Amino acid sequence: MNIDEAAVERISEETAEKYRSFVNPGIANILNFSGFDVPEDRAEGCYIWDISGRKFLDCVGGYGAFSLGHRHPKVVEAVKAQLDKEALKSHFFMSIELAEACEALAGVLPGDINYSFLCSSGTEAVEGALKCARIHTGRSKYIGAVNGFHGKSYGSLSVSGREVYKEKFRPLLPVTQHVPFGDACALANAIDDDTAAVILEVVQGEAGVNIAPDDYFPKVRKMCSANGALLICDEVRTAFGRTGKMFASEHYGITPDIVTMAKALGGGVMPVGAFSANAEIWDSMFGKNPYLHSTTFGGNPLACAAVIAAIKVTIEEKLVERSARLGIKLLNDLKMVQARYPNIVKEVRGKGLLAGVEFDHEDFAALVIAGCGRRDVLVAYSLNNPKVIRVEPPLIINESELDRAIVAISEAVAETAEMLEGIA
Ligand SMILES: Cc1ncc(COP(=O)(O)O)c(C=O)c1O
Repeated sequence: MNIDEAAVERISEETAEKYRSFVNPGIANILNFSGFDVPEDRAEGCYIWDISGRKFLDCVGGYGAFSLGHRHPKVVEAVKAQLDKEALKSHFFMSIELAEACEALAGVLPGDINYSFLCSSGTEAVEGALKCARIHTGRSKYIGAVNGFHGKSYGSLSVSGREVYKEKFRPLLPVTQHVPFGDACALANAIDDDTAAVILEVVQGEAGVNIAPDDYFPKVRKMCSANGALLICDEVRTAFGRTGKMFASEHYGITPDIVTMAKALGGGVMPVGAFSANAEIWDSMFGKNPYLHSTTFGGNPLACAAVIAAIKVTIEEKLVERSARLGIKLLNDLKMVQARYPNIVKEVRGKGLLAGVEFDHEDFAALVIAGCGRRDVLVAYSLNNPKVIRVEPPLIINESELDRAIVAISEAVAETAEMLEGIA
C-alpha cells in the first residue's frame, strides 16, 4: 500500500472498529494496547509489511506455518497453476493431486507410516487421530501432557492440558488424564488396558518449548506397545524440519503409531492438516467403511499442490539441515543473552529453529515481545506458558537476519531489566 499517515491512521481505526463490531473486540483491544494496531498488508520471505510500509522480520513464523517463509515462489507457482486448472474437487472421481500429495508424504513420514488423511487444520488432524486410536483399540481413555496443546475443537481440547481453555466447555471427552511432560514414571502410573492412546507433542510448543529427556520417548514408545495403546505424536508444529529433523520423533529414534501435521505442511500458502498411520491402523479406520471419516474441503487440489511443492522445496533447499545448523547458533546466542541478564531470564531452550526464552514473570515476556516489536522484529507469546517467548523464524532465514533478531531480543531484555531496576 502506498498511503499517507492520515490514511494509515484512518484505516487502522476503521479496522479496529470493525473488529469491535464484527470480529472480536478483545483482540482489537489487546493489539491496540500492545502497540500492534496497524493492520498487516503483505508478506514475502522472512518479512511482513504493515499498511504504513513498515517492515517486520517475522520470527513468529505463523506459529510454525511459515517454515518456507511467506509466499515461497515455488509453492505459489504450484498453487496458481492448479487454480488455473481446478480449485475444488467434485468428490465424484479420484484425485490425482490427492494421490500424489499422500505419496509425497509417505516418502518422508517415519517407519511404515504410509497412509494419510488430509484436512485443513491442526485441530482436525488431532480429531482424526483420536478417532483412529479409539476404533483401532476399542478403548476410550486418552492420556495427554500437562500444558500440552492440540487445538481447540472438543476432542483436541479434551487432550490439551491447560484448564483455562477447558473449564467453560465441559463435559469434554469423558476419559482423559494428563501427566507431566517428560516424566516416564507418571505415564507408567497412568497408562492401563483402557488406554486408547497417549498423545504428545514431541517438543511442547505452546507450553513454552519444553524438551523431554533423551530416554523419555523411547520409554513412552515401549509403554504404549506393552499396554496395547497407540502413540500419537502431534507434530502439527514440529514436522518438516522445524526442530532440525524432518519429524521431531526422529530425535528420539522412535516411530509413532499416528502422526498429526499441519502448519508448514501447506508451505505457508495453503491451510492444510493431516493425520497419518500404517496400513493396519488405516484398515481399522477405513477398511469396513471408507467414508467413516471425511471432509468436504480437506485434500482439495490447491492444498495438495501446496503440499507436494512444500515437501519438494524442504528437501531441495536442505531446510532440515539448515534448521539444525542455525538452531545451534540461535540457542547459543540466546544463552549469551541469558548470561547477561540472569536476574530476569530464567532459562533458554530449543531444538532447531524452535527456541524458547523463559522469564521470571509473564509481564517481562510481554514487555520483551513489545520491545522486539518496536525494533521491527516479531517474536511469539506462548499460549500455555506466558512466561516464555518463542523464536520460530522461517527456516529460510539467513545468519545476518538471525543476528538482527538476537540484537532486538537482547536490547528488549536490557530495556526490561533497566525498567525493573528503575522500579526497585
Ligand atoms: C502441537 C499443535 N497441535 C495442534 C494445534 C492446532 O492447530 P490449528 O490451530 O491449526 O487447529 C496446534 C496449534 O498451534 C499445535 O501447536
